[in-house]
Amino acid sequence: MTVRPNVRAMSGYVPGEQLNDPEIVKLNTNENPYPPSPRVFEAVRAALTPNSLRKYPQPLGDTFRKAAGRVLNVDPDAILIGNGSDDILTILTRAFVPEGGLIASPTPSYILYKSLAEIQGARFAAVPLTADWQPDADRWPRDAHLSFVPNPNSPSGTVIAPAQLAALAGLVSPAPFVCDEAYADFADGNSLALLPSVPNLIVTRTMSKSYALAGIRFGFAVARPELVRELVKVKDSYNCDVLSLAAATAAIEDQDYFRDIRAKIRATRDRMTTDLTALGFEVTPSHANFVWCRRADRALKPIYEALKARKILVRYMSYAAGPVGHPEGSAYDGLRISVGTDTEIDQLCAALRTFL
Ligand SMILES: Cc1ncc(COP(=O)(O)O)c(C=O)c1O
Repeated sequence: MTVRPNVRAMSGYVPGEQLNDPEIVKLNTNENPYPPSPRVFEAVRAALTPNSLRKYPQPLGDTFRKAAGRVLNVDPDAILIGNGSDDILTILTRAFVPEGGLIASPTPSYILYKSLAEIQGARFAAVPLTADWQPDADRWPRDAHLSFVPNPNSPSGTVIAPAQLAALAGLVSPAPFVCDEAYADFADGNSLALLPSVPNLIVTRTMSKSYALAGIRFGFAVARPELVRELVKVKDSYNCDVLSLAAATAAIEDQDYFRDIRAKIRATRDRMTTDLTALGFEVTPSHANFVWCRRADRALKPIYEALKARKILVRYMSYAAGPVGHPEGSAYDGLRISVGTDTEIDQLCAALRTFL
């Protein structure tokens, strides 16, 4: 069979391990350690009727768009729904990047952006982040057809100030500039307020992390309504099913619950940063629901393996290049550890103490 050569040549995005062992303390893919709002269960049960399963769902997710528009204070027509925010990133790539085109993103960062470029048959520019995890505007390719900048960044959990984002977006304008806000709900701010003044800005969000719906698959983008109308042409007609639409709508409407679990996660993040630092890790101050940990005195992969042997799963990550200042030509690695419940973080630290 004739698979396109660019697809045959690529290795494919490898997601974090999903082990089916209920005893595992799972701190490797930044899921929320708390369940979704009780209202989500009610809404999904209510949506489970013969008629709603028999019929196609709302193609644009109008009920969700109205609810999200109210909560985020944006025009519902500015919202594009997706089957997870990865679906949104795929739609954006298909809409904006020609074969042989150019996608730019910082590095070290979310690895999927490169896979999207490979699938599209596009080139990929990995722009090194500065030593304090800021995008280097001087090195950002002005001719990128699409720029992806996660804010907060993964794996570092660091943030870029809105003024810097706006300046970077200006450099590539009128080409689209995507601010991937998968983790923005755990930070102090976000870039939604930039939308009226930065016309090429597209903000992407997920319900997987702060709303605890990773299993449901729901994400969305916020952009100018005229752009959303173009993007709708690229997406699958019914890219979100009735159950995910019901769940996402109920979740975003329950802002009290959302604020409650977000506050708990932020408190555990601070405590976890202190505890891991006391155990000898260099922990990058995080604005997300994970922390990036390194240490100079030991190899990091064996720590990941020793934790796994004790049924604690964290993410070991290795990049070809690190931020500016990391010796060129040497791999840059670390442990990205999701913020769990306080009990889970106690278990993590107790396990680390047994062998560090
Ligand atoms: C930076 C970033 N963007 C997007 C996603 C995708 O989230 P989802 O497809 O679950 O909405 C992730 C998931 O880990 C992520 O880390």
